[in-house]
Amino acid sequence: MKIAMIASESNPLAKTGGLADVVYSLSKELTILGEEVIIIIPFYGNIKGTIKTGLDHVCRYQVHLSWRCADVDVYRTYIDGIAYYLISNDQYFNRGHLYGDFDDGERFAFFTLACKELFSNVNFKPDIIHIHDWQPGMLPCLIKEENPRLDIFKNTKFVLTIHNPAFQGMLPREMLGDLYNLSDELFSSGKVEFHNMVSTLKTGIIYSDKVTTVSPTHRQELMSKEGSKGLDDIMWYKEHDFCGFLNGIDVGEFDPRHDEKIVQVYDGRTCVSGKAANKKALVEHFNLLDPTAPLFVLVSRLTWQKGLDLLIPTCYELVNRGANIIILGSGEYEAEQSFERLRGSYPHHVGIYIGYNDDLAHLIYAGGDLFMMPSLFEPCGIGQMIAQRYGTLPIVRRTGGLKDSVIGYDNNNQDIANGFGFDDYTIEAFINTCLYALDVYNNKSSVFKKLIKNAMKVDNSWKKSAKLYLGLYKSVVEEK
Ligand code: GLC
Repeated sequence: MKIAMIASESNPLAKTGGLADVVYSLSKELTILGEEVIIIIPFYGNIKGTIKTGLDHVCRYQVHLSWRCADVDVYRTYIDGIAYYLISNDQYFNRGHLYGDFDDGERFAFFTLACKELFSNVNFKPDIIHIHDWQPGMLPCLIKEENPRLDIFKNTKFVLTIHNPAFQGMLPREMLGDLYNLSDELFSSGKVEFHNMVSTLKTGIIYSDKVTTVSPTHRQELMSKEGSKGLDDIMWYKEHDFCGFLNGIDVGEFDPRHDEKIVQVYDGRTCVSGKAANKKALVEHFNLLDPTAPLFVLVSRLTWQKGLDLLIPTCYELVNRGANIIILGSGEYEAEQSFERLRGSYPHHVGIYIGYNDDLAHLIYAGGDLFMMPSLFEPCGIGQMIAQRYGTLPIVRRTGGLKDSVIGYDNNNQDIANGFGFDDYTIEAFINTCLYALDVYNNKSSVFKKLIKNAMKVDNSWKKSAKLYLGLYKSVVEEK
């Protein structure tokens, strides 16, 4: 089967969050299963220096955004058997960052239009076009409204995966014509309209043949008033074509038995000494005082979605109880400043790294004792699964994929528990759960060790989910 993944980011070339992991790992697994997969992403400025060899200029064409004409240069490189097509236009993508600009709507309209023209230019006749999130959301609409009979798309089916329903690609109504060259009648039809604007995410949902999200629990949440960010009616409309598949992690990249980025490798048998050695190195790296103190860690984008308003007060409480804290991530300026203030107050107990550093992230996963993830909402979450693999017990709010991947310890289930969980989004609930975990760490070390072993045994690989996606692709290709 010929599958095209289209997204705004993908490992190992461009990453701000879990989306990049999923696009790459799922593609890699599908390739192993024998499918032909290409990935199409923008050629961001920061990708340029990272590809040293094997980058070909494949073609050049133009796309029209209403009256404007923009050049597209397509480059190709191969990674792990996957062809990456990079859509280049310096004006739109040669910037030091991926998103967050006033013209993101226009940038991704250009990207979407360029993707539509790419297939005939590189002669790739896709069976499946799998789009991710709002950025390429208009593509199925563009093709179905404009070119349904074009030979190249004659047998193409569309799958959309929702990774983050909070970003809906909202544009003023005029942009339908001005960016996408689509008629205003479409707006009146209701297919693209959302809260009196155009939503590229909603449009993607309506026009795709199948829609998925990244965990079974998040599927339920998207169909509820509280958890759907306003999308529930649309999801109900799609009910029979809507699935929730739990993401996996790249178990090759994250493997404590062979990880070159950590100080001492370990497995389930040697985890106690192995984790202790990594913890010592980690604590020294941040100049913290007591290497034996319980260590709470976090690797995350620092955005409100991740439960920052619970995290910050809880960190103060934990430090006062003698714990150390190490955080790696970047995001909202206010949040970064709050964590800097925490470190300012407790320089020997708190280590903060603002930014992303892959080597350090691996050491944190290996050296931590407890991994904090009190997310307000979390369609899947990847950090908790990586933490489990390294035997760092996640403390999660039971929402979305966190609920589907962590079994919280409750005094009686040490044979199956592999972390800690709580339900209410309150500071009190999170602090109490952290203190409960701390108590198990301090006073029930045999239980704590058992939970570590349970966590390390969890199979979070992509194998299962990749098969579910493949099954979905096959079922939709067979539909008439
Ligand atoms: C988004 C979601 C996160 C999910 C990731 C990959 O970043 O917020 O929960 O794990 O996408 O699907």
